[in-house]
Amino acid sequence: MVVVMAPGATPADVEAVVHLVQSAGGQAFVSRGLSRTIVGLVGDVADFEALNLGSLPGVLQVIRVSVPFKLVSREHHPARSVIRVGGVPIGPGTLTVIAGPCAVESPEQTLEAARLARSAGASMLRGGAFKPRTSPYSYQGLGEEGLRILAEVRAETGLPVVTEVIDPGSVDMVASYADMLQIGARNMQNFALLQAVGSAGKPVLLKRGFSATIEEWLSAAEYIAQRGNLDIVLCERGIRTFETATRNTLDISAVPVAQRLSHLPVIVDPSHSGGRRDLVVPLTRAAIAVGADGLLIDVHPEPKLALCDGDQALAESDIQEITEIVASLPSVMGRMLT
Ligand code: E4P
Ligand code: PEP
Repeated sequence: MVVVMAPGATPADVEAVVHLVQSAGGQAFVSRGLSRTIVGLVGDVADFEALNLGSLPGVLQVIRVSVPFKLVSREHHPARSVIRVGGVPIGPGTLTVIAGPCAVESPEQTLEAARLARSAGASMLRGGAFKPRTSPYSYQGLGEEGLRILAEVRAETGLPVVTEVIDPGSVDMVASYADMLQIGARNMQNFALLQAVGSAGKPVLLKRGFSATIEEWLSAAEYIAQRGNLDIVLCERGIRTFETATRNTLDISAVPVAQRLSHLPVIVDPSHSGGRRDLVVPLTRAAIAVGADGLLIDVHPEPKLALCDGDQALAESDIQEITEIVASLPSVMGRMLT
């Protein structure tokens, strides 16, 4: 942490900062420039924050120089991590495709979507049983019945399942069916939910909130890690911007930025980003090219009849193109399709 003193700060003001920091067990190094004095602090940032240094006379600004997350940072763990979900690796060296219906609607629809997912190169199945909907009148999902369908389709296809959990009280129940728990964009800062999945003993897919900075996203991951669970995969799914042509704006630079700050794998959701079927293929290409560790793609046997997000779901007729991309592009980036 660095304390920048105001131009008119007196020697007594500087001394008061130094004294307070030292009394909290820290060290303070004063550096006097021509027009400014700055005080560099060494010690526990949490202790310094409690001192409320910004309110002292003569203090212009207090700047935090270290990131507010530790366990998920590359300072803590320099090598990039590989997370395994039901034997499927997600991380550097591979590209993992996770695909399936946005919402589980019936056993037939889910099995057919899993078949499409597999032919598109997926090694994991996605599907929502508890849907976080903007409107309470929109389809909310089949609940536990949907989880049973996902477990049956897993037994039939061998594809490990990732599904969303939307409240802390149902984490154990959802975890008893799922191979991986998804935290959706709307719940990225639901701290009680993050702590609950951190204790659930299952890998977690953490989607970025639509208005979350990368630092807030990684701090959310830290809540999960703090509970002893470092099996976390980050998912960039587009953020809100002024643009209305797309549902969200895929923040492609978030992939390398998050990978540099954190050892956790980062995947991309080209379906929720663009919100349009015609954009899934170009955004998939972009995601692989930028170095994403995987993809999360919506597929549906009959998108026109989908109960949720049909506009962004790939249909059978789109599968050939996506299959060709995931078969050829990863090797250009030094990755193998899992
Ligand atoms: C699906 O995955 C989400 O529940 C969906 O995108 C929510 O969007 P909406 O409820 O705003 O349509
Ligand atoms: C989803 O993937 O099912 C979903 C709800 O997406 P998001 O949380 O990114 O909107």
